[in-house]
Amino acid sequence: EKGGFPYFMLKEISEQPAVLADTLRGRLSAEGSIVLDEERLSGEDFRDIDKVFIVACGTAYHAGLIAKYAIEHWTRLPCEVEMASEFRYRDPVLDRSTLVVAISQSGETLDTLMAVKHAREQKARVLAICNTNGSTIPRESDAVLYTRCGPEVGVAATKTFLGQVAACLLVGLFLAQARGVLYGDEVGAYVEKLQKMPDLVARTLSTVGPVRELARSLAGAKAVLFLGRHVGYPVALEGALKLKELAYMHAEGFPAGELKHGPIALVEQGVPVVVVVPSPRGRAVLHDKIVSNIQEVRARGARMIVIAEEGDHQVEPFADHLIRVPATPSLFAPLVTTIPLQVFACELALARGLDVDQPRNLAKSVTVE
Ligand code: M6R
Repeated sequence: EKGGFPYFMLKEISEQPAVLADTLRGRLSAEGSIVLDEERLSGEDFRDIDKVFIVACGTAYHAGLIAKYAIEHWTRLPCEVEMASEFRYRDPVLDRSTLVVAISQSGETLDTLMAVKHAREQKARVLAICNTNGSTIPRESDAVLYTRCGPEVGVAATKTFLGQVAACLLVGLFLAQARGVLYGDEVGAYVEKLQKMPDLVARTLSTVGPVRELARSLAGAKAVLFLGRHVGYPVALEGALKLKELAYMHAEGFPAGELKHGPIALVEQGVPVVVVVPSPRGRAVLHDKIVSNIQEVRARGARMIVIAEEGDHQVEPFADHLIRVPATPSLFAPLVTTIPLQVFACELALARGLDVDQPRNLAKSVTVE
């Protein structure tokens, strides 16, 4: 049942091109529009919304952070993202024109479920993004978009994160389309590029081999730092979470622009620092800024592990290890940049002799507070 892999996690990482294709299947029309014709979900519902709130925990929260960049950019609606455990115990300002998006792989996470109930009591409309058919969170929500990733056995979320990110991108484009904020040809251009993403994920997986050797060489490291900007920041957080969960190592993710405000004090000789570099073809200013962040950290003796788009030559002189990912539109980049980080954490944990499917102290679905 592990399909020839020694661990479910390795199998689940390898399934990601197919999983992404499944999440997208039937939701991208040949005419270039987004089709979400799930039960209880219609464009009508989205027209009079004036604010979006995303609630989730753990890895699903990181998918929500990525969604914020996409939703605000495409729809011009304000979008907040909050950990469900915080959201449910304060007084978020919600009403019937708020859309609450609850993201949960299992559909059973107690804090996310209680956040959904809290939102519905305030009359907000709730859309669940979920992987488990018929689970509690979709049942308690107004509408549901299933990620269709299939069962995930490994406790660390991998393929379901990719499914959640893809579902969030679909929701963002659907909202922009339903509200007439993006023109049909603009949506069409994104649809065309989304269709290519499963192949790009496959290509990323096929070139990820050197990450394994690198991870094994770092099995004795005390800590690893992760830096990113824009959608690379949630990817950095996700890379750090994977490493904590699987390898029991101190790992932290930061927005690269925050370095000077404290985290740079952690940098010492030899500390591995992973940097998720935004595309130089996107906002060039962001790329330039991260290149100078890389130089600042390297000057303090860090070992720089740089994840950058193919053809980005500017980073080459400053990378001790360069990991290439295919070029994508900026907002789609997490679908490829996450993959080397999953492999990195998994391989490092294996090098430390750990069971990557069942990390200590963790449960696949957290149904208690
Ligand atoms: O089932 P959910 O998506 O609601 O679970 C949320 C988190 O518990 C989950 O993502 C957790 O952080 C994973 N172990 C991450 O790998």
